[in-house]
Amino acid sequence: MRYGYFDDRAREYVITTPETPLPWINYLGNQDFFSLISNTGGGYSFYRDAKLLRLTRYRYNTPPDGGGHYFYIKDGADIWNPGWQPVRAPLERYACHHGLGYTAIEGARGGLSARQEVFVPLGDPCEVTRLTLRNETGAVKSFQVFSALEFCLWNAVDDAANFQRNYSTGEVEVEDGAVYHKTEYRERRSHYAFFRSNCPPDGFDTSRDAFCGPYRGFGDPAAVERGACSGSIAHGWAPIAALQFDLTLEPGEERDLIFVLGYAENPPEEKWSAPDVINKAPALSIASRYETAAQVDAALIALRAHWDGLLGVYSVDCADRKLRRMVDIWHQYQCVVTFNLSRSASSFESGTGRGMGFRDSCQDLLGCVHLIPGRARERILDIAATQLPDGGAYHQYQPLTKRGNNDIGGGFNDDPLWLVACVCAYLRETGDFAILDEAIPFDNDPISAAPLMEHLRRSVGYTMERMGPHGLPLIGRADWNDCLNLNCFSTEPGESFQTVENRSGGKAESVLIAGMFVKYAAEYADLCVRLGLAEETGKIRAAVERMEAAVLDAGWDGAWFRRAYDYFGSPVGSKECDEGQIYIEPQGMCVMAGIGIDDGRAAMALKSVEERLDTEYGVVVHQPAYTTYRPELGEISSYPPGYKENAGIFCHVNPWISIAETAIGRGKRAFEVYRKTCPAYLHDVSDLHRTEPYVYSQMVAGKDAPTFGEAKNSWLTGTAAWAFVNVSQFLLGVRPELDGLRVDPCMGGDLDAFTVTRKFRGATYRITVQNPHGVERGVRALTVDGACVEGNLIPLAPPGAEVHVTAVMG
Ligand code: BGC
Repeated sequence: MRYGYFDDRAREYVITTPETPLPWINYLGNQDFFSLISNTGGGYSFYRDAKLLRLTRYRYNTPPDGGGHYFYIKDGADIWNPGWQPVRAPLERYACHHGLGYTAIEGARGGLSARQEVFVPLGDPCEVTRLTLRNETGAVKSFQVFSALEFCLWNAVDDAANFQRNYSTGEVEVEDGAVYHKTEYRERRSHYAFFRSNCPPDGFDTSRDAFCGPYRGFGDPAAVERGACSGSIAHGWAPIAALQFDLTLEPGEERDLIFVLGYAENPPEEKWSAPDVINKAPALSIASRYETAAQVDAALIALRAHWDGLLGVYSVDCADRKLRRMVDIWHQYQCVVTFNLSRSASSFESGTGRGMGFRDSCQDLLGCVHLIPGRARERILDIAATQLPDGGAYHQYQPLTKRGNNDIGGGFNDDPLWLVACVCAYLRETGDFAILDEAIPFDNDPISAAPLMEHLRRSVGYTMERMGPHGLPLIGRADWNDCLNLNCFSTEPGESFQTVENRSGGKAESVLIAGMFVKYAAEYADLCVRLGLAEETGKIRAAVERMEAAVLDAGWDGAWFRRAYDYFGSPVGSKECDEGQIYIEPQGMCVMAGIGIDDGRAAMALKSVEERLDTEYGVVVHQPAYTTYRPELGEISSYPPGYKENAGIFCHVNPWISIAETAIGRGKRAFEVYRKTCPAYLHDVSDLHRTEPYVYSQMVAGKDAPTFGEAKNSWLTGTAAWAFVNVSQFLLGVRPELDGLRVDPCMGGDLDAFTVTRKFRGATYRITVQNPHGVERGVRALTVDGACVEGNLIPLAPPGAEVHVTAVMG
C-alpha cells in the first residue's frame, strides 16, 4: 500500500494522507541551520548543534509528533490545521510535498485552503514559512490564523534531565509583534532565537500555559478556542511564540503571511541595546531579507538552483524510472543530509547524545564528495584533527567544538582505516594531492601538527601494530559492527556496551578489519607510489599480502569468510558455531578488497550469502540469529532475533554485497541485491516498511523477526553513501580514478542502454553505454569523442570540455 507518489519532474515525494504509518520527515537546511519537518508540520529547528543550540522544542518518544510549528485556522467555531496535526480535524484536501530542502503542506476545509511552505534559505540562519490562505467560496470570509511554536530551553538534555532550572530561567521580549527568546542571554550567551511575521499580529502569547490553558495542550489550545491570545509574557516555565491574525478574504482572494524563525548572535560587547533589552539588529537584518513574497520567491529559486547545480554532477538517463528517480534525486539528496548530520538528529536519534561519528562521517563523505568537494575537504581536515597520536580515533567528535569525545567510548579498531578510505575517495574525485601536505594536529593539539599523509600513515600503522594470534587485526571494542563486542563482557543491567571496560590484552581479531586493510592499505600504497615513496610502498604492499594470506588461511571457513575470533580464540561466523555461523560483513568487504576472486573463493562466499542470508527485503547480518544473550559477543546478542545487528537487514552493508557481486561480474545478482533494499522499488510495501518511501532506513527487521520487513532509523544511515557509491560507480559503473573516469558497468542486462552525465574535474562527460548482447559485465569498445580508446579508462579532459563517450558492452 502507498500513501503518496513520486513527482519526479518536481523532484518531490507527495504524501496524500496525513495518516502515514509514522511521521514522514524532510530535512531543511544546508550547512548551519537545520529543521526537521514531518508531513503534519511536526519537527524542530537547530543551529549547528541539536543539543546546545536547539531553537524549538520536540518531545521524542511520544506518540507522533512531539512538537512542531503549527498553524491553527479558526473559522467560526471550526478549528483545524493545514497539516492535520495537532487538532486532527479531518481535511477535505491534503497534500504534503517533500522537496529538496523545502516542504509544502496544503490543507483545505470549509471553503478555505492553507498552504504552509517551509524552507531554510541558503546562507541565513533561519527557517522561512510562507502561509498562503485562500478563500475558495463565493462569499466574504472572516477568520483567524494562529501560528504557534514552543522554544526549547537551549540545552536540550536539560529539557528532560534538569527542567526545574529551565522553569525559572525562561525569558522573552516582545517588540513590534516579534517574539525574542532570550533564556540565559543575561548570563553567558550572546545568542538568541526570534520569531516574527511580515504582518503585524493582532495578538500574541509567549507563555505556553496562557496559550494552551490548564490541562490542555497544543491539540486544544484555549486561546484558539477563545479566539484571542492574552498577550502573556513568559517568566520561566515554557516560553512559546504564538501570533494571532484576524483576517478577511474576499471571494477567491489569496493572502500570504511570511514567518521567520531565526538564530541571531551578537558580539559579547554589543549584547544589549539598553539595560535588559537585547540587541535585535542581527535578527532584524535577517528578517528584512524575507519580508515580501518576491524575496521569498527569489530565495526559493536560489535554493532550487543550488540543487540543480549539485544534481547536475551525476545523472542517468535510462528506461528504468525507479532507477533514474533514485540516482538523479533521492540517493544524492540523502547523501548530503547524512553528510550534514552524521547520525545526530532524526526521528530516531535525539540529537543530544551523539556527535559526529568518525567512521560514519568518513563513509558519509564517500557518497557526496563529487557534489561538495570543498566541504568534504574541510570535513576530512576536521576529522583528521581529532585523530590520536597513535593513529587511533575517538569514535565520535562534537560538531560545535570539533573535539573528540571519549564519553561515548573509543577503541573501535576499524575507525582509522575509514580515514584512508575517504581521503583516497577525495583524491580520486578531485586530484587535489595538496591536501596530503596540509599540516593537521593530532587530538587538536597544535604542537603535534603533521601533514595529512602522516595521519594516513599512522592509520595504516595502527592496524599493523595491533595484530592478533592468527595474523589478523585486533578488533578492540568493536569494528564496523558496533554491537559485536568481543573484548567487553557486560553483565550489569543498563550498562553501556560502548563504554563498558574493553579488556586490556584482549586478543579478539576481526576478519572485517583484515579485509578493510587489504582494500584501503593498498589504496594508501598507491598514494605512496605517486609520492615516490618506494620503500614505504614495498613495506605496505608486503603487509597487504600477508594480510590477504591470513584471511585466506585463518579467515576462511570452507565456504565463506569467518567474521572474527573471540576473546578465547574461538571463531565467530563459522560452521563450528551453533548460531551466528555466517556474517555478511566479511563476505562483502573481503571480496570488495579482491580477496578470493582468482581462486573462486569469492564466488563461493557470495553463493553462501545468497543461500543463507538473503531474504525478500535484503541480506541479513548473520544466520542463525542469536536466541540467547552471550556476554562474550556483547550487544549483538542483546537484541531479539531479527532486529538491528542480531540478524536484522542492516541496509548499510547490503551495497557491499552488491559491489562484491560486480567484482565477480554477476551483474544480475548485483542489481537484485541493490533493488531489494532500494526505496523506490519498495514503494508498494510502504505500509509494511512504515518509514519514508523516498529514503533508506538503517535497518529492516530480518526474517527471524515477528515484523519481518518493517524498517527503522530512517534517513541518517551509512546506507545512503554506500548505496550511491554502488549504483553510480559499480552498477552503472562510472567510477572516478586518480587518472580518469573508469567505465565498468555491471548491470546484468536489465538495461540495454543508458547514458550517464558526469561532471568530473571541471569537464562534462556524456557516457552512453550500450549492451546489445545483454552481457553482465565488460566493455568491448570505448570511443571518446569518436576516437577508439584501449581499455575502459576515459582519459582526463581539460576543464570546460564536453566529452562524448560511447561504451559498448560485450
Ligand atoms: C553506527 C555505525 C555502525 C552501525 C553498525 C550504526 O548505528 O552509526 O557506526 O557501523 O550502526 O553497528
